[in-house]
Amino acid sequence: MSKIVVNGGKPLTGRVDLKGAKNLVTKAMVAALLADTPSVLKDVPKISDVEVVSRLLELHGVTIDFDDAGVMKLDPRGVKQARMVDIDAHAGSSRIPILFCGPLLHQLGEAFIPDLGGCHIGDRPIDFHLDVLRHFGAVIEKQAQGTRMSAPNGLHGAKVELPYPSVGATEQVLLTSVRAKGITELSGAAIEPEIMDLIAILQKMGAIISVDTDRVIRIEGVETLTGYTHRALFDRNEAASWAAAALTTGGNIFVGGAKQLEMTTFLNVFRKVGGAFDIEDDGIRFYQKGEDLHPVVIETDVHPGFMTDWQQPLVVALTQARGLSIVHETVYENRFGFTEALVKMGAQIQIYRECLGGNPCRFGQRNFYHSAVISGPTPLTGADIEVPDLRGGFSHMVAALSATGVSNVGNVQLISRGYEHFLDKLGNLGADFSYSE
Ligand code: EPZ
Repeated sequence: MSKIVVNGGKPLTGRVDLKGAKNLVTKAMVAALLADTPSVLKDVPKISDVEVVSRLLELHGVTIDFDDAGVMKLDPRGVKQARMVDIDAHAGSSRIPILFCGPLLHQLGEAFIPDLGGCHIGDRPIDFHLDVLRHFGAVIEKQAQGTRMSAPNGLHGAKVELPYPSVGATEQVLLTSVRAKGITELSGAAIEPEIMDLIAILQKMGAIISVDTDRVIRIEGVETLTGYTHRALFDRNEAASWAAAALTTGGNIFVGGAKQLEMTTFLNVFRKVGGAFDIEDDGIRFYQKGEDLHPVVIETDVHPGFMTDWQQPLVVALTQARGLSIVHETVYENRFGFTEALVKMGAQIQIYRECLGGNPCRFGQRNFYHSAVISGPTPLTGADIEVPDLRGGFSHMVAALSATGVSNVGNVQLISRGYEHFLDKLGNLGADFSYSE
C-alpha cells in the first residue's frame, strides 16, 4: 500500500470517528511502566506509533493486551532490561524511547535509548530531555548505538526551568519527577491539553501534581504508583486535519468525538478562513459555506496558540483563498518542505527566512525558511508526489483530493503513523482512489 492513485476534484462528505490522541496515548502507555499494578487505557487508535511503543514496552517485559474496541491493558509486573540491539531494531522512527528513561531509571536503575527519528521537520534535538534527566541525578553516557543512563544514587526532585515550553521535555519532567525523592518545580512548562490529560492519568496513579499559573508545575514525589484506568483525550490534530479536508474539497465532514474546548484556537482561524462548523454533543461538523475563502495571517505557537500540527492541512485550504495569506512557523525550524509538492500542483507559495508573522521568533536571525506567503486562489492539478512526513503527508492527500486530474501519491504508509484506518476513512468519505503496485 505504499503508492495510491487519486482521482481528485470530489468533495469529501460523511462521518469519521476519532480515537484517543496519538500525542497522549503513546505517553500514557509509557506511564504504565511507573506502576506496580496493571493499567487500562481506552480509545487507543490502531496506528503505527502505538505499535512501536507496544513493541518497546514488550521488550521491557510489559504484557500488552489490545482489543478491537481500542482497549489496551498494560501489565508492568515483569519489567526488565531490554537488549540495546533489540530496542534499536524496534524504535524505528519514533521519538518516544526518550520518555522511557525516567520510568526505567526508577524501576531498574538504568535505561538505554537509541538515536531517535521522528518526522523530518527540523533537527529535533533531545538536549532539553538530557538536561532534565541530569537535574534529577541521572548519569548519561553516549555510546556508539545510542545513550546509556544510570542513577547510582536514585533520582531526586529538582528545580527545572525549560528554555522553551517543549511538550516532550515537560512530559520527561512529569514521568521522572512523580517517583523522584522530594519536590520538583518545573517552570516554562508546556500546557497542551495532552499534557493535562497525562497529569490526570498520573494523578489517578497516585501522583501529587499541581499546575500553577505562568507555566509552573509542582510535583511532590511519591514512592510507589498503581495502575490507572483512563479514556484518552480525543485527537484534536486529527480533527483539525479532517476539518481542513472538508474546507478544501468543498465537502462536509462530521468528526465524531471532536470537542470545542481543546480546539477553540483552531475554530477561530477556521471561521476566519471561511469555514463553518456546528458543535454537537458527540462531535463537530465542519463544512464550507460555498463562498470564497479568505486569506489569514497565522503564527504557530505552543498551547494555547495555533498548533504547528494544524498548519500543513490548512495551508492547502489557503491556496484557494482570495488574496495573500502568511504562515509564520515558530515551533519547528523546517516545517514547510511539504509546500514543494503543492507548488508542483499549481499553488503559489514562497518561503522566507524572515519572521513574517509580526512577532520575532527564535528562528528569525538564523538561516531557517520558516515563514510562508501563500497567494490564492490557484487551481491545483494532479501530480506525482511523495509523502514527506505525517502532517505534510495529510496535506498532500488533501491537495490531491481537491485537485483536478490524477495524482500518484507515494509513501502513503507514513500517514498511518498518526491516522487510524486512514484510507478506509477516506473511502467512506467518498474519495476516489485506488491502490497501485
Ligand atoms: C510533540 O513533539 C508532538 N509529538 C509533535 O507532534 C508536536 O508537533 C509537538 O509536540 C509540538 O506540539 C509527540 O507528542 C509524539 P517539542 P515534541 O519538544 O515533544 C525543540 C505530530 O505530527 N526542542 O514541544 O518532540 C524542538 O526542536 C508531531 O504529531 C529542542 O530544541 O515537540 C522544537 O523546535 C510532530 N530540544 C521545539 O522544541 C529538545 O530537547 C518543540 O518541540 C526538545 C525540543
